[in-house]
Amino acid sequence: MLTETTRARRLADLEPVPDDSLLKLITLCNADPRPDKIDVGVGVFRDASGNTPILKVMKEAEQRLLDTQVTKAYLGSAGDKCFAELLRPILLGEHADDPRIAGAQTPGGCGALRLGFELIAIANPSARVFLGTPSWPNHAPIIGAVGLEVVEYPYYERGQGAVRFEDMIAALRSGEPGDVALLHGCCHNPTGADLSEEQWRDVRDAVVDRGLIPFIDIAYQGFGRGLDEDAFGVRLMLSACDEVIVAQSCDKNFSCYRDRLGSIWVKTGSAEATTTAMGHVFQLSREMWSMPPDHPAACAHIILEDPELRARWLVELEGMRNRINSVRQTLAAADPRLAFIGRQFGMFSMLPLSVDQVLKLRTDHAIYMAESGRFNVVGMSDAQIDRFTAAVVEALDA
Ligand code: LMR
Repeated sequence: MLTETTRARRLADLEPVPDDSLLKLITLCNADPRPDKIDVGVGVFRDASGNTPILKVMKEAEQRLLDTQVTKAYLGSAGDKCFAELLRPILLGEHADDPRIAGAQTPGGCGALRLGFELIAIANPSARVFLGTPSWPNHAPIIGAVGLEVVEYPYYERGQGAVRFEDMIAALRSGEPGDVALLHGCCHNPTGADLSEEQWRDVRDAVVDRGLIPFIDIAYQGFGRGLDEDAFGVRLMLSACDEVIVAQSCDKNFSCYRDRLGSIWVKTGSAEATTTAMGHVFQLSREMWSMPPDHPAACAHIILEDPELRARWLVELEGMRNRINSVRQTLAAADPRLAFIGRQFGMFSMLPLSVDQVLKLRTDHAIYMAESGRFNVVGMSDAQIDRFTAAVVEALDA
């Protein structure tokens, strides 16, 4: 007879899972009937009219694909290899020809993160992952899901809009060889507070001195200062370290969010060891999703391969970047307490508001932001900016 502790567990015995905070926010905002609601929750770029249009070059590439694609036969676990090759110089810059670095297409940046941590867990199950907080809410669950230990340290001083750099360095310097430093490549999510180039160099020194593996999540390349400038940290770590993992997302800079386009990049000390590591990456992909979705990679491949479409993509990307930076300046000018927003990069910033204040903004003003105070600076249309800043200033005054 089964005892209480050994009885068969059934699906009906599952405990409820708490809602994902960002996905729940989409549902809550969608359900709000107020026509003037402001959705600064999840990270999607919106233009001055408040829309998230498909890029014109993406529409054109999709049409070309429709007209010319003759088969949808399987491509394999690496996905579209030409896409990864075309992306290579954009991400790696001067390291593009390094045979010790290999990349492959993944389902979004999230797929790349999961693959990278699965790879670490196979190589070194006792590795600890140093994670600055606050971070993207899905980082810790992904790391936990592969069984690695997360070591949190404080990254950001709310209200000051500043990185707690001494705390960061002290934490990294407590790492042991083989531990992992998870770093945001640019446009820090959720705070917008990036490392300066000087700080990146200090982080590099700490990582090298302690023998850590830098694992860089770069989801917003091109949204901060420019494609090359935003890859500074990735390239610095590639210069200094034998072992590096990069999880990259194209969901944002190709504005193809739901299509899921990303890539994983692995560097080891030799081309042979990298080939072996990538063998594990492909085996892991095969076990999880078998092959990444072709459509977004096939379209990005068309865009990056055609000089005219590529040039137009760069212009559209610059347009998104300019809007992000101009809304930042407008918000920063609205009140001295918001000035820090103008010194940060990317789609996100974090307001020094309590959970109660954030919930009051929802109830009283139909403004939807994460309970942490993270908001998407380009979540609102131009016409909504004044109402947003007035409500935030009122909340800060309360
Ligand atoms: C965000 O942080 O809002 C985006 O990266 C979307 C997501 O998957 O959480």
